[in-house]
Amino acid sequence: MALEPSMESASHEPIMPRHVAIIMDGNGRWATNKKLPRTAGHHAGTENIKRVLAEFQRNSVQYVTLYAFSTENWNRPESEISGLMSLLKTVIKNQIEELHQSNVRIRHLGTLTRLPDDLKDSITSAVRTTQNNTGLTLCVAFDYGGRKEILDAIKNMMNEIHDPAEITEDLLQSYLYLPDIPNPDLIIRTAGEQRLSNFLIWQAAYSEYYQTSTYWPDFDEIEVKKALSEYLLRQRKFGAIISEERDIVE
Ligand code: IPE
Ligand code: IPE
Ligand code: MG
Repeated sequence: MALEPSMESASHEPIMPRHVAIIMDGNGRWATNKKLPRTAGHHAGTENIKRVLAEFQRNSVQYVTLYAFSTENWNRPESEISGLMSLLKTVIKNQIEELHQSNVRIRHLGTLTRLPDDLKDSITSAVRTTQNNTGLTLCVAFDYGGRKEILDAIKNMMNEIHDPAEITEDLLQSYLYLPDIPNPDLIIRTAGEQRLSNFLIWQAAYSEYYQTSTYWPDFDEIEVKKALSEYLLRQRKFGAIISEERDIVE
């Protein structure tokens, strides 16, 4: 089985995804089912990240994006929001050394300005510490929303470009938060909902979508393997037709 990164072109060859993005959903329901507070679910969710990343590393996935806090998650009760903020800070503190040792490069996807100062500092420092690492790139989407990203991109672009004729898809893409990260090949959503919830709406135009009813804290290595195996069966066409289909038509 080839382990080469996939490119955005029609191919019948099973190729591992280069970039997997995950909507880590279901922490609250996981906790409620166990008669625990929702924060216990978020805690279990962060504990799950390590084993999932290790499985992606074993399968030569180069980029993983984790959706951890959306622009709409500000609508949750203040106590849950502050719990999620302090949880990310603790996760960075506890896991940064090991991630750095395993050559993981951390990037932040979203807006830093609305976060508490101590969290802002710990994200900035994690990004700086790991910036020269050459292994898996881990993008943490925290205070991220796809619509805000596109709006921010347009505002920044309009400061520099005044002739609409100059605006192309590539140009707009170059103003997104992390323009150098390839589009996700595979988007996984745990906990059964079938929606993007404002995640990577520009970049997901041709991503393969995989959803499972498993709650995020229970999404283990076997679940990762299942998602990757299903991805390998997909035929990505990008609007074209693959050569076998061409033979049938001709
Ligand atoms: C996902 O779990 C984590 C965040 C959105 C921060 P949820 O908290 O959305 O869990 P459910 O959907 O209520 O079960
Ligand atoms: C999406 O989950 C956001 C994250 C996983 C961070 P939500 O639980 O916020 O999404 P909705 O509200 O069910 O669409
Ligand atoms: Mg949810």
